[in-house]
Amino acid sequence: MSKDRVLSGIQPTNGSFHLGNYLGAVKQWVELQNTHDAFYCVVDLHALTSSPDPKELHQNTLTSVAQLIALGLDPDRCTLFVQSHVPAHNQLAWVMECLTGFGEASRMTQFKDKSQKVGNERIGVGVFTYPMLMAADILLYQANQVPVGEDQRQHIELTRDLAQRFNSTYGQTFTIPEGYILKAGAKIYDLQDPTSKMSKSADSLSGLIEILETPEVNTKKIKSAVTDTGREIKFDEKEKPGISNLLTIYSALSGSKVADIEKEFEGKGYGDFKGAVAEVVTNYLAPIRKQTLELLDDRSHLEKILKAGAQKAEVVADKTLADVYNKVGLIPRG
Ligand code: TRP
Repeated sequence: MSKDRVLSGIQPTNGSFHLGNYLGAVKQWVELQNTHDAFYCVVDLHALTSSPDPKELHQNTLTSVAQLIALGLDPDRCTLFVQSHVPAHNQLAWVMECLTGFGEASRMTQFKDKSQKVGNERIGVGVFTYPMLMAADILLYQANQVPVGEDQRQHIELTRDLAQRFNSTYGQTFTIPEGYILKAGAKIYDLQDPTSKMSKSADSLSGLIEILETPEVNTKKIKSAVTDTGREIKFDEKEKPGISNLLTIYSALSGSKVADIEKEFEGKGYGDFKGAVAEVVTNYLAPIRKQTLELLDDRSHLEKILKAGAQKAEVVADKTLADVYNKVGLIPRG
């Protein structure tokens, strides 16, 4: 039996991923390479919806790819590529847009939130059509599962609806994908505000552990993490969100169980514990940071990897696109 296929995407909006990206998503991607036929895509076209500086987008895309490899994605065991290198994504996105209702797209919460923030005059149409491009990303590869965070659930639902709509109108074409919603246990919170998710959009970066940050800065951030009243090192998300978050991080990166860590730190203070968390984090990230920087130094090697990834992706994507074009009645170029 052939393996199930997974596809996921990550935006290259930041210079560095943070620990939440890694533990919440990329770590699972790495595991899925072993059991699935995995496609992973750096979605640079999606990043354009937030009008990034061109130089930064360029660099962040390369840095994202280098980090994904350093974090464990193996270009020999998965298909790792950049979205804009495979034109079929845009081409299928148009077909998806023609299939989507205006009202349906207007109800997507991500669009609603953003358009409320900046107003209808200024919100880009790209933010509006973002979910249809994402549907194309997924459907082109006939993915069975899509590993994403909870916040992407609505996009997956739309993708399923569009796939079903297309199939019932034009005949069986797309695999109906399922969301593979990533484990909640891997949820990492902001160090300064341990009730909000660790996210680059936080007001301040002091609650963010970045993969490529120096050990000194990350140590400082962990040592100044908000903790809770009391002095016990105990997992209790309600009463002790700060300590619980640090326990989750420690556990995820060391492999030790939370209960064992609690025991280890019985009778010790927050200061000792934070020092230990900082050590686990910086030891874990050091080789990843080093390998990322090395990969970035060897641009031609990185480009070779991306070229091979795009070629592998294109074979699958072009086949689906040709089928779609044919089914909707476009004549082949010949
Ligand atoms: N919208 C996703 C996010 O912001 C990124 C994404 C784009 C994606 N295309 C995808 C995720 C396809 C999974 C599959 O996280």
